Amino acid sequence: MSSTSNEIPKEYKIQPYICDQYLVNGKLKTWEGNTSKVYSVIQTKNKDGILGPTLLGSIPDMETEKALEALEAAKVAYNRGQGLWPTMKVGERLKCMETFVEKMKKHREEVVKLLMWEICKNKSDSYKEFDRTVDYIVDTIEAYKNIDRKGAKFDKQDGVYAHIRRGPLGVVLCLGPYNYPLNETFCLLIPAIIMGNTAIFKPAKHGVLLIAPLLKAFQESFPSGVVNILFGRGRKIATPIMQTGIVDVLALIGHSSSAVALQDQHPNKNRLRLVLGLEAKNPGIILPDADLDLTIKECISGTLSYNGQRCTALKVLYVHESIVDEFNKRFSKAVDDLKLGNPWEDTFLTPLPEPNKPTYIQELIEDAKAHGAKVLNKRGGELSVNYSFPAVVYPVSKEMKLYHEEQFGPVIPIISYKEIDEPLDAMAASDYGQQVSLFGRDVRKIGPLIDILANLVCRVNLNSACQRGPDVYPFTGRKNSAVSTLSVYDALRSFSIRTFVASKDNSYNKEILESLLNSEASNFVSTEYLL
Ligand code: G3H
Repeated sequence: MSSTSNEIPKEYKIQPYICDQYLVNGKLKTWEGNTSKVYSVIQTKNKDGILGPTLLGSIPDMETEKALEALEAAKVAYNRGQGLWPTMKVGERLKCMETFVEKMKKHREEVVKLLMWEICKNKSDSYKEFDRTVDYIVDTIEAYKNIDRKGAKFDKQDGVYAHIRRGPLGVVLCLGPYNYPLNETFCLLIPAIIMGNTAIFKPAKHGVLLIAPLLKAFQESFPSGVVNILFGRGRKIATPIMQTGIVDVLALIGHSSSAVALQDQHPNKNRLRLVLGLEAKNPGIILPDADLDLTIKECISGTLSYNGQRCTALKVLYVHESIVDEFNKRFSKAVDDLKLGNPWEDTFLTPLPEPNKPTYIQELIEDAKAHGAKVLNKRGGELSVNYSFPAVVYPVSKEMKLYHEEQFGPVIPIISYKEIDEPLDAMAASDYGQQVSLFGRDVRKIGPLIDILANLVCRVNLNSACQRGPDVYPFTGRKNSAVSTLSVYDALRSFSIRTFVASKDNSYNKEILESLLNSEASNFVSTEYLL
């Protein structure tokens, strides 16, 4: 897609945004070193009338020294569990978060506009990403109050009183993905800090400028050193931070190769907790009696929402041989009918934000063709400067890259099967185990299949596309797809550990506990009920 300046509605025109600040130890500092330019793949004409990628602004290309300063700030703020933040009353931490979310809401339009330009997410999904994130923070506050209320009591077992709560883990390094640069990053960062940890956060390679309008909100809402935000390359920032061994939790949504490389840098692996959302190759399994209208609708959204750039996207379709011709014909037509446009036009398909992605998708298609597959839809693989039109590729087999690789883009491999063991065995052999979509109706077939599928993945979607939401449900995966579980509630657990005060039931201890509660001398020992 390309646009001349005149074609872009006034409200979506963009001026280069110079992000020269970063947040360390409660201070917004100005970066004076090297910077990196940020471009959108959406083409516009420059002053000389030449069409090319649009300059969106620049970000600091920070050096290791500053990364280590940020780490030190997070370390001091945590102070081995003795800092202000980890020992603060839960209610006080929640107030900081409430302040933050109110300040964040004021930046909705700026952030959404940058989401559209930086990662080319369409207008409705960009608004959805922002609003979903705000809701996630509000729900997280409520979920923590609920956890805290449950802990506001004493248990007694075998003559021992216990006051059990959840405590923080330490310093968290938080790294998010480009496809949900706001939502998925904040789904790690927010629960991490609310539980009393301190954090260093570096935005993904794409979708980075949109964090800049929120820097001040972070600075004004949290005590010094609780949240530290850096910009630049992983190897200059994340790698040296991990090498110090100071990080207690690596929170990353992205590729397992990055997660493994970063873990390998940590000198004390058994002290490093992992909260990871990684790649997947979620299959759709289409049984002979599936309702094809519904199935095609769900498979379109499952394979091609945000151009297939979702970890939860359907990345391979197994269709029973008795209906494969009919399915392929109707699915291919539905794909060709999809509209491509710029994000603000709110079309279903939008440009691919990674400049090399169209070439990669073409390579997958060519490799599949070389091994005997065909592109079924008329527009499949149509190439432009920032797009490769979704290609329906059939029949796909094990020799092809498309069978194994997580394409994370607009190409849909289809495999026909005779016996249900074929997709089941493929899933069992796969390196991934996030979700599956199962399309069919006959409960005598579906029932036993669910029993197996639930052991191969972590969510079986019946007659519906795979997805992460609603965010209160557990989001996790088996094998290379995830470590630990996220959801509004589970994320609070993932970033904390149960810790408690125990005392033998005798009059001496009872008196101490009673006066502890009456005096409010401890923030931990408290039966205060947060409303
Ligand atoms: O990239 C993976 C996301 O977690 C997917 O979330 O299913 O809401 O698009 P979603």
